[in-house]
This record gives sequence, structure tokens and C-alpha cells, in this order.
Amino acid sequence: MRLAVGMGLFRGAGTLLSIFPRSLAAAASARSQALVYERHGEPVQVLQLKDLERAELGHSGVHVKMLAAPINPADINMIQGTYAILSDLPAVGGNEGVGQVVEVGSHVTSMKPGDWVIPADAGLGTWRTSAVFSEETLVKVPRDIPLLSAATLSVNPCTAYRMLTDFETLAPGDSIIQNAANSGVGQAVIQIAAALGLKTINVIRDRPNLQEVVDRLKSLGADHVITEEMLRKPGMKDLFKKVPKPRLALNCVGGKSTTEMLRHIQHKGTMVTYGGMAKQPVTVPVSAFIFKDVKLCGFWMTQWKKEQTQNKDRFTGMILTLCNLIHKGQLTAPACTEVPLKDYRIALEASMKPFISTKQILIM
Ligand SMILES: NC(=O)c1ccc[n+]([C@@H]2O[C@H](COP(=O)([O-])OP(=O)(O)OC[C@H]3O[C@@H](n4cnc5c(N)ncnc54)[C@H](OP(=O)(O)O)[C@@H]3O)[C@@H](O)[C@H]2O)c1
Repeated sequence: MRLAVGMGLFRGAGTLLSIFPRSLAAAASARSQALVYERHGEPVQVLQLKDLERAELGHSGVHVKMLAAPINPADINMIQGTYAILSDLPAVGGNEGVGQVVEVGSHVTSMKPGDWVIPADAGLGTWRTSAVFSEETLVKVPRDIPLLSAATLSVNPCTAYRMLTDFETLAPGDSIIQNAANSGVGQAVIQIAAALGLKTINVIRDRPNLQEVVDRLKSLGADHVITEEMLRKPGMKDLFKKVPKPRLALNCVGGKSTTEMLRHIQHKGTMVTYGGMAKQPVTVPVSAFIFKDVKLCGFWMTQWKKEQTQNKDRFTGMILTLCNLIHKGQLTAPACTEVPLKDYRIALEASMKPFISTKQILIM
């Protein structure tokens, strides 16, 4: 079955561009392949690789050839129908990625053919070979950064950067603690924190190849890498002889991991919850509130972006700051496995396995 990408027929581009009469020249190349879901469910069951007709360019459209797009936990949750925002169905999967501009409409001013672009917001539907998006749904990035860095830039490094800068005023030498430190966000936290002169205490789950993961995180700049079990042991006292107690804790997990992490936070420190990988609630001992006066808050990048609609420069400014770190070699893409789009099932299955420790990237 072929779906048309156009007004009222298809959603997932965040952009519904009306279909204009197509020229014969355009018709020859006006096709794209996309991973489409028509109902919510397990991704391997509901996603299908389909042949789509691309919308016409119009005046404000940007024809983008997608180059690479990661599979993130939020993409999976959106397809399962359990995420806080859901696309109208049928939809194209994927919220992040990088593409190259092929052609722009006559009213488009901020990008030109050859530029690299990333999504400005969630819901773009990036798991496809090409599409016509509207200009305001895209942000230009420098073309001289590595492809995998560009493909994974708009969600996790931005989340890491905001959490490190918006909740506590931290100075070089201060420390932070985080769980799921080997996640995409965690790897960005380690690198951005190191660039800011902050010490990181990184908690991961025990696994057969523990030393390999520890070595990798240390090579990114992690100061201390410990397992969930070590976090509960009295030996933590020794660690805090070398590094100050953290003012900021970043929680991606929930459940016991969070409660244990909270025990080590400084008086009046802050814990920011941004993920719930263990699918368990955050349990906080009353003593943490009474005797430590800790602050617990949450962060959601999608909401942050929504709040910047009047101030888009803030988002583009952050992207440039992160690209600057990439240029300086201080921020690299997470460990990645590149998978051709046609093998998407393999990538989806791998992305949902525990201890996989690499981000699956669909190569278009
Ligand atoms: N709030 C926001 O704005 C925002 C932005 C970006 C991401 N996120 C969220 O952050 C989380 C991480 O995203 P990501 O793209 O960085 O993920 P990722 O690279 O796919 O990594 C997933 C991480 O979760 C860990 N994990 C999986 N199941 C777990 C469990 N049951 N208990 C403890 N740890 C578990 C994995 O550890 P193992 O190696 O031990 O399996 C790994 O460290 C997701 O929940 C995502 O939705 C939130």
C-alpha cells in the first residue's frame, strides 16, 4: 500500500504541506520510503517500510534527503502509544536525525540546498529516506561535524546541557551524580560536565562486560564509574574523600537506584528526573526532605522547546554551543551501531535489549 504525504492524508511530519499539481520532472523522484505505523503496538509488529509519495515543495517547503536517524526510547514509547505526545495516525516513526537539503521553496530564507538540518521539535517522523518539511520545523547545523553527532544532537546532548546548567549554579570542581550513565544522555552529561570542569559520579548496572563500559565512560571524561550495588555500600564514604558530595543528581531510572542516589546528594541539593527506565516510581525518604531539604524536579526537552517559541535563538544558540564542543573534540556521538533502513527490525530489537550500550542508528 502506498500512502500520500499531504494535507489530511498523512501525519508524522509535524508539517502537513498541501499537495500542489506536480510537474513531470518532480514526479520521477517524488517517492520516499518510510517506517510507518497505522496503529499503536510493539514497534517490530506495527512498523512497516512503505513507499510514500512526497508532498510538493510549495513556497515554504524544504525537500530534505534524510541521512541518518537514531532509535531513542521516546520513539519506541510513541509507537507503543505510551508517550506524553503522540502523532496522529498513520505516522512515520522517529523524532531525531539529520538530513541534507535538496531543494527549497521560494519563500525559504534560512536554509539552502546542501545544508544539513535537524528537527526543531519532536514529531517530525525522521525514519524515512526523504520528505518535504516546512522551514520552521528544521534547524540548520554545520556540515563539518560528524554525521553521527549531527544525527544524535537534537535530543540527548540538549537535555544533558539544560540539566547541567538550568537547575543548580555549579562551579568547576563541583560534582554531579547520575544513573544510567552509559545511556545516550549519560554519555553527553559526562562530556559536557567535563568541558565545564565538573566532576561526575556515574552509576551503571552491573553486567558481564562491566570493565569495557567503565573504560569507555572514563575515556569520555567520567571521573568515577560505579555500579548500582556499589552505590549502596559503605565504601562510598571513601569516594567522597576524593570528590565533593554532588549538588545535582540526574535520574533516568526511578525505583531503588534513585533512592540510593539521593542518599549521597548535598544538603539542599537538587535531583532532576528526566527518564523512568526501570518503570518504577521515585521513592523519597522523608528524612531527605526534612534533614536535607532536597529539591526534586523534572525536565522534559519537548516542553523546554515549546517554551522557547518566542525565543528560537535560545535553541539555536544551544545547538551552536554544542557544535562548538563537537568541533573542539569535547563532545562526541554516543557509541553507535549503524543499521541500513531496510534492516530496521534488527535495530528495533537491539534498541530494546538491556545492556546493549550502543545507540541504533538507521542509515538511509
Ligand atoms: N526528559 C527528556 O527531555 C528526555 C530527553 C532525552 C531522553 N530522555 C529519556 O532518557 C532515557 C534515556 O534515553 P537515551 O536515549 O539516553 O537512552 P539509551 O541510550 O537507549 O540508553 C538507555 C539506558 O537506560 C538504561 N536502562 C534500561 N533499562 C533499565 C532498567 N530497567 N533499569 C535501569 N536502567 C535501565 C540502560 O542501561 P543498561 O545498559 O544497563 O541496559 C541505558 O543506560 C529514556 O527514558 C528517555 O526517554 C528524556
